[in-house]
Parts: sequence; structure tokens; C-alpha cells
Amino acid sequence: MMEWLLVPVAYLTGSVCSAIIVCRLMGLPDPREQGSGNPGATNVMRFGGKKAAAITLLGDSLKGLIPVYVAQWLNVPVELLVLTGLAAFLGHLFPVFFGFKGGKGVATTIGVLLGWSWWLGLAMVATWLLMYKVGRISSLSALIASALSPIYAWFITGNSVIVIGAVVMTALLLWRHKSNIQRLLSGQET
Ligand code: G3P
Repeated sequence: MMEWLLVPVAYLTGSVCSAIIVCRLMGLPDPREQGSGNPGATNVMRFGGKKAAAITLLGDSLKGLIPVYVAQWLNVPVELLVLTGLAAFLGHLFPVFFGFKGGKGVATTIGVLLGWSWWLGLAMVATWLLMYKVGRISSLSALIASALSPIYAWFITGNSVIVIGAVVMTALLLWRHKSNIQRLLSGQET
């Protein structure tokens, strides 16, 4: 029964917004007031450089990975494994520590998928990297990698609960990227 505590704990870890904390610690401006206004690694990269962006990416991925990894270690049912990942993801989007205004969820998705299945997470990372190499647009790479993740989940895990979890994260990630999608469609996204 205690294992259900993983869900609220994952939500709380997901609520720790790496971009805001990293920028504060490194003496950089608040990412919510710079560039796209998104507290995420891509936006930190715009004004804070590679090091700050890499730490942000790592932090936001780990907060998705660690709770799911603990759930795997506790050998919980797959439903709880998936809910734990979704809770971390929702924490990133709606962080209790930052007025429920969080990021778009790309790095946290990677962490959660890695926790559900290493191969699934690696497939998302590989797709992102490939798409970025082709188009050099972070948001487009993330949108394509995320859109493919339920299909990867089906072929890699064969587990319908994990597929549903991937569908939910993709739907929310697409919704959070609506301004990026508008810019992509009008050719203004960079
Ligand atoms: O990680 C979010 C990325 O896909 C888009 O970020 O700052 O370009 O809106 P941004």
C-alpha cells in the first residue's frame, strides 16, 4: 500500500524546475523572462550557454527517471509504474513550487521513458538527435520524437499500459508546444 506514495512523491520531484534553479544558482536571468519564456533546457541554451542547458536537461530528465526507477526497483505493478512517470511529468508541467506554471516536458519525458524501458527512452533520444541533425529545430525534433514514442512503446514493450502512458504524455506535450507549432507552421520557429 505504501508503494502508492510513489505517485505524490514523483509529482513533487517533477515540480522541481531545474531551469529556474540552475539559472538562479549560476547567476543567470530567470528563464521565464527570457527567449521563449519556457523554463527548459532549450531556452536556457539561448541565453545561458551549453553548460547551464546541459545541467537543466540532466536535472529535468533525472526527476522523471529516478521515481520511475525506484518504482521498477520496488517491482510495482505496471499501472503504478506508469502513474509514477505521469506524476513526475505532470509535476514538471504544473509545478506546485512555481505557481503551477512549468515547462513543456521534453526532458522529463525522456527520463520517464528511460525509466519505463531503457530501449524506449533511447529510441526517443535517438529520434530527437536524428531530427535535430536534419532540421536543427529543438521543438520540431521533440514533437516528432514524442509523437513516435507510443509506437516505439508498443513495439519495444508490447505493454498497452505503457503505450497509454506514452499517449497521455505525447498529448500533453503537443498541447504545451502549441505556440511552437504555430511558429513552425508560419516558418518562424528557430
Ligand atoms: O524543450 C522545449 C522545446 O521543445 C521548445 O522550447 O524554448 O523553443 O519553446 P522553446
